[in-house]
Parts: sequence; structure tokens; C-alpha cells
Amino acid sequence: MSGVQDKVVIVTGAGGGLGREYALTVAREGAKVVVNDLGGARDGSGAGSAMADAVVKEIVDAGGEAVASYDSVATADGAAALVKTAVDTFGTVHGVVNNAGILRDGSFAKMDDAAWDAVLQVHLYGGYHVTRAAWPYFREQNFGRVVMATSTSGLFGNFGQANYGAAKLGLVGLVNTLAIEGARNKILANAVAPLAATRMTEDIAPAEFLEKLPPTFVSPVVGYLLTEESTETGSVFVVGGGQVQRVAQFQNEGVRFAEPPSVGLVAERWSEITDLSNVTQGKNPLG
Ligand code: NAI
Repeated sequence: MSGVQDKVVIVTGAGGGLGREYALTVAREGAKVVVNDLGGARDGSGAGSAMADAVVKEIVDAGGEAVASYDSVATADGAAALVKTAVDTFGTVHGVVNNAGILRDGSFAKMDDAAWDAVLQVHLYGGYHVTRAAWPYFREQNFGRVVMATSTSGLFGNFGQANYGAAKLGLVGLVNTLAIEGARNKILANAVAPLAATRMTEDIAPAEFLEKLPPTFVSPVVGYLLTEESTETGSVFVVGGGQVQRVAQFQNEGVRFAEPPSVGLVAERWSEITDLSNVTQGKNPLG
């Protein structure tokens, strides 16, 4: 097993919570880690170097290799600088974990453009910018690993998280196409929806529930998806509290109309159209 030994892995938002655990895990497994974190608050305000520096110190003190980056993933320039740090320090980049995230919760009725844009910029644009900056290296070396942090709020919906859910499911859409386009160059892309006790969830769920969700249950799955041996691509996993589940889209047989039907005819067949008792994994009919 060569695992992630000597692989250069960027973990965004690695100054705390899940990202810190991902960074510590892959460093322990022999990866050279770029610990990226803007160092701000949960809502994305502020910035600082202390968070990323502390995780780099933890890794180096334990005998591992790591470098800090304080760039924001939310801009193309920040992502370019982040990837440059990896290349300047360790020669290339083999894997990216797009984990950086913020929250600006509020019901859709009260959602303003600033809350919408800020969340889309860090999660969806962040995943896009960083992966795009790393992509030429992946193609050149015929090896690349992308893990996106998605969320059950995107996969299934959650009150007050329209912006966050849209961004998180956008990342799954991105993974679907990266898996197809990356295949020729042995670039694998997957998404993980974690469930873990972090500053992001500390006031969302009861303490006794969060107690069972240390980030250490999530990081080994992310670590595995970064390994040389993994062949998994285009998949989504929900991981937390010891449970590791795959989530996928399915489609039913549906109904076939020989001619354009009337609205009434659609209504008549509605129960067959929506019946999920006989489904197969969904495919792009145009792909
Ligand atoms: P966290 O708040 O501890 O970690 C997010 C990190 O991203 C922070 O350290 C923050 O400073 C950093 N960050 C924010 N904006 C940034 C930017 N523009 N550039 C670089 N870094 C930035 O929260 P947690 O829970 O560890 O979240 C990690 C990821 O997992 C997030 O993408 C989150 O949406 C996702 N997630 C977490 C869940 C959980 O149960 N904790 C559930 C579902 C998804």
C-alpha cells in the first residue's frame, strides 16, 4: 500500500474542525500537507494566520510535513496563490480537499443577496477555483484526487439553508462532471457529506448527539479517497459517528407517452410517474 505516502495534499479550511482532522490524518499517513485557512469567524468575517499555523505546528511536532496558507479560496487569485504554495514548497499537488466553509443561515423569505453570494463564493466558487488551479498539475502527472465537502442540507434540504444547500449540491454537480472529464488522466473526484461536532454545528444539535460525532470518524474516509489505490469516482458519501453510507440518484421506470399527453393524462398517470418502488441508478441519457 502506498496510500497517500509522499502525496502533496491541499486541505482548505484546515485550521479547525473537520479540515484540521483531515490534515492531521493524511499527514500521519505520510502526505505533505498544505494547511489552508483564512482564519475568520463562522460567518466568514475576519481573517488571521493563527488557525493554519497551529495545525502546521501540530503536524510538524508529530514529525510530519506541512506548510500554511492563509489565502481565501473564494477568489481565483487566492486559489492560485494556494496552489502556488503547494508547488513552491513540495513541487506539485496530488490531491485537493475542498473543505473550507462558512454559514449565513436564514429562511429563503429573508435571504439577502449578500448572504447568498458569500456562501456560494466560499463553497461553490471555492471548490471551483481551487480545483481549477490544481487541475493542470493533475493532468500533467496523470494523477489527481478531489474531495468536495458537501452536506445533507444540499442532498436533502434543510430549513434556513437555501444558500448553503444550493452551494453544496452544486459541488456534487461539479464532481459528476470532473469524474467524467478526469477519468482519462486518472483524476478521481468524489464528495463527502460529513456529520461532525465542530464550531459549525455546536449550536445546531444537542450536546449529547454531537458527542457521538467526533471528526475522527470522517477523516479516514476522506483519507481513503485520496489514496493511490482508490478507484472510486463520481460518488457521494454521508459519513459521521461511525456510519459510512453512499448516496446516489435513482430513477424509476416512469411512463412513456407515444404522443405529447394532455395535462389531464399526466395527472391520471401521476402515481406511476412518482412511484419509486422499482428504481435503477440514474444516468445522463445525453451523456
Ligand atoms: P469549521 O467552521 O470548523 O471549518 C471551516 C473552516 O473553513 C474554518 O476553519 C474557516 O476558517 C475556513 N474558511 C472559511 N472561509 C474560508 C475561505 N474563504 N478560505 C479559506 N478558508 C476558509 O466547520 P466544519 O464543520 O469543520 O466544516 C468543514 C466543511 O464541512 C464545511 O465545508 C462544511 O460546510 C462541511 N460540513 C460540515 C458538517 C458538520 O457536521 N460539521 C455537516 C455538513 C457539511
